[in-house]
Amino acid sequence: MELDQLTDEVLRRCDVLAACSEEPHRLTRTFLRPPMRAVHEHLRTWMTAAGLQVRVDAVGNMIGRLPSRDPEARILVVGSHVDTVPDAGKYDGVLGVLLGLAAAEALARRELRRSLDVIAFSEEEGVRFGMPYLGSLAICGRLTPETLAKTDADGVTVTEAIRPFGLDPGAIPAAAYTPGQVAGYFEAHIEQGPVLESLDRPLGVVTAIVGQSRYWLRFVGRAGHAGAQPMDQRRDALAAAAEFVGAVEAVAQLTDGLRATVGSLTVSPGAANVVPGEARLTLDIRHERDTVRRLRTTELLDLATTIARRRKLGFEYETVMDEKSVPMDAGLIDRLSAATGAMPRMPSGAGHDAAVMASFCPTAMLFIRSPGGISHHPDESVRREDVRAALKVMVEFLATELDRTD
Ligand code: HGY
Ligand code: MN
Ligand code: MN
Repeated sequence: MELDQLTDEVLRRCDVLAACSEEPHRLTRTFLRPPMRAVHEHLRTWMTAAGLQVRVDAVGNMIGRLPSRDPEARILVVGSHVDTVPDAGKYDGVLGVLLGLAAAEALARRELRRSLDVIAFSEEEGVRFGMPYLGSLAICGRLTPETLAKTDADGVTVTEAIRPFGLDPGAIPAAAYTPGQVAGYFEAHIEQGPVLESLDRPLGVVTAIVGQSRYWLRFVGRAGHAGAQPMDQRRDALAAAAEFVGAVEAVAQLTDGLRATVGSLTVSPGAANVVPGEARLTLDIRHERDTVRRLRTTELLDLATTIARRRKLGFEYETVMDEKSVPMDAGLIDRLSAATGAMPRMPSGAGHDAAVMASFCPTAMLFIRSPGGISHHPDESVRREDVRAALKVMVEFLATELDRTD
């Protein structure tokens, strides 16, 4: 298929996968839930038709290989994730996988000095277990027993979620690539923010993925009667959490480049006539400079402790992740920039599997314009001409990378 046909097929396939959801009226697809089987069936059909050798590893990553003529050849990996946030758009992650597959289709008849692996990572968002990057961590051999023991809302562990999908947790170590085997990792992804649109550019080259800290926080007061309990005798956990959420926004607004979000808040017992006894919330903090992120994080956690003490509440927090800012590979950035022409270079405020892969091999990312800067929302969209431009760049870039001997 030529470029226009491949572009239209990529967009059609995004629509097909968007129908694979665990919820009836919105797109939500989390780690190894049943809709992931349908995604795998579609991907297997498309990958096989493109001449790729298809396999699924022990954590549900689906990998299609376009083999080199040299069995000892190093591997270039291209891909992204196929899980989603709740009520997601249809391009976050999926577009990068399908662009990688389309590029493989375009290159399938060439003699390749390196093998090309197209990976659909099973889990990047961290929705089901509160722990992101399960797919790429497995590829890098970094899945720990602590991570595999994390539980979802039903008390199911990661390991226990793997078996019903027909996979063997015992084979997780075999999911890891051999260090040095992978010549590089390349991910195309929607920008998910407003920068490329504000610059009126279709594509961007990512320079770094900003550092990210994620926490679970818990304020513990005492439930009471909403009518009978006087205000000065309350230990209202939600009121404390609300004061903290306002402080998070204020600190982020006063710190240039800081993004801090309380994305989830649950209250118990959760009845209109009961003073909340407990509030559990998440905290997500990001900044390009690790020193700023860590300073503000400490400041906010100390503030939460102060709020709890003043209100005579208990307070505890759990660190879910603390990922440093990750630079992309300078050589790949230069070669990708050469392929894109004068496209802007920019940091990524969003986390990506590339942040994990960069610890394992030279890594680069290509951004595609997000109209309206909308993402993690059903109105997430792309422009066809931008997808076509991205595919054109990828075919050219991957063709040269697959021909390298270093
Ligand atoms: O949270 C993120 O930045 C990404 O969407 N997982
Ligand atoms: Mn996302
Ligand atoms: Mn994503």
